[in-house]
Amino acid sequence: MNLRFVLDPQLTCELREQIVALWVDVTNAGGAVGFVAPVAAADVHPLAEETFAGLAAGSDRLLVGYEGDRLVGILIISDNRFHLKTHWRVLKRVMVHPDTQGRGCGAALMREAERIGRAWGLDGLHVTVRGGLGLETFYARLGYREVGRLPRALRLAPGDDRDEVLMWLDLGGHTAAA
Ligand SMILES: CC(C)(COP(=O)(O)OP(=O)(O)OC[C@H]1O[C@@H](n2cnc3c(N)ncnc32)[C@H](O)[C@@H]1OP(=O)(O)O)[C@@H](O)C(=O)NCCC(=O)NCCS
Repeated sequence: MNLRFVLDPQLTCELREQIVALWVDVTNAGGAVGFVAPVAAADVHPLAEETFAGLAAGSDRLLVGYEGDRLVGILIISDNRFHLKTHWRVLKRVMVHPDTQGRGCGAALMREAERIGRAWGLDGLHVTVRGGLGLETFYARLGYREVGRLPRALRLAPGDDRDEVLMWLDLGGHTAAA
């Protein structure tokens, strides 16, 4: 596993389509990134467009990971859009292509986000996690701790409610964020 990271890549049409394709593949392999399988590109497009708008506005930042020329993972470093919460960020849409999961890409992507957060002088990073998939373990190994849980907050299907787990990584930064 040898990943190359790019923060704020140019959001070309090609990259947008690659992200939508990644999002679809990850969801259809059982990933917890805003949808429930099965999905097609048309299902993902509206939320993807919202996401791209946040990136274009500069409030959110995109981190991508390439293996060679292939996009294998992304995450969004999201601004809280509230002046009392400028000292921390939310990581959203953390995803690695199913073909490359389990090889350390996700951990490497998260460590790069942590490195960026520290470089920006942030106090912390927050992730919300769909319960019932063991994902808390992935984040816990990276130093995130559970700080709350909204019981049965996510209704995946009638009779299939999941907790939304709130996780936090202390960065201890005390300077103004970028
Ligand atoms: C979650 C995800 C980003 C992890 O990326 P990855 O490349 O597969 O993970 P890594 O290979 O870096 O794994 C790092 C460690 O976390 C563990 N881990 C990874 N995914 C896990 C999961 N779903 N449940 C429990 N542990 C997990 C690995 O076993 C590994 O442990 P180790 O260090 O003891 O070997 C990836 O599986 C993914 O994209 N999943 C689908 C999308 C998704 O659900 N994202 C989460 C949004 S909150």
